[in-house]
Amino acid sequence: MAYSRHVPSLATPAVPPGSMAALTQPEIRADDMVLRPWQPSDRPAVVAAYADPAIQRWHCRSMTDDEARDWIDAWPGRWRGETGAGWAVLDAGEVAGQVSLRRVDLGEGLAEVSYWVLPGARGRRIAPRALAAMTAWSFETLRLHRVELCHSTVNVASCRVAQHAGFAVEGTKRSEARHADGWHDMHLHARLDSDARCGTSRG
Ligand SMILES: CC(C)(COP(=O)(O)OP(=O)(O)OC[C@H]1O[C@@H](n2cnc3c(N)ncnc32)[C@H](O)[C@@H]1OP(=O)(O)O)[C@@H](O)C(=O)NCCC(=O)NCCS
Repeated sequence: MAYSRHVPSLATPAVPPGSMAALTQPEIRADDMVLRPWQPSDRPAVVAAYADPAIQRWHCRSMTDDEARDWIDAWPGRWRGETGAGWAVLDAGEVAGQVSLRRVDLGEGLAEVSYWVLPGARGRRIAPRALAAMTAWSFETLRLHRVELCHSTVNVASCRVAQHAGFAVEGTKRSEARHADGWHDMHLHARLDSDARCGTSRG
């Protein structure tokens, strides 16, 4: 017999449904950077990001101007639907990158992160600092229990970001993600709300 979605779980939801939709997406400060909700005027920065070969490689998509508009327009619905949340990372007032929560599951208190930084802004710890700030908000305000981070085992820069942002490595998921060049083994990292307060390390 098919599983019924109406059979109640014996466990109470980690975060009550409706908790995220009831919040207004905040601006988050990360040192001298600001994480703010996407705006229509950010479209050229999004198009430029997805024209970068490394972002195309690891995020498995390119983006036309119309697609960038749709991508920006979709974020408020993802917030209201409690499935995702995206922030533009501003450094000196300019979009330098993005951090986001995806696969949000309030019942399990769980989400996964995604991030990229524009080529000209790389190497200044923008990704780990923005990630640490968003993760701190995810624990302190959204009340998530666990935030996961996955990257291809050959994406060394992303592994460094995870380490700097305090995401402990938990293992390797074999042949888990399909990229343009085939299947990739993925490192799984995670932070728990009970881990030490989010901050970046210099290691
Ligand atoms: C991975 C990425 C987000 C890192 O962002 P960042 O703000 O540059 O992060 P950091 O400054 O902490 O750099 C991370 C590491 O990458 C190295 N690095 C890689 N490419 C670099 C470049 N072009 N310029 C400078 N540093 C670079 C840094 O030296 C650093 O290594 P270290 O800790 O040993 O010094 C960014 O390179 C990016 O957007 N890459 C393409 C998309 C991607 O991989 N997204 C993640 C998918 S899981």
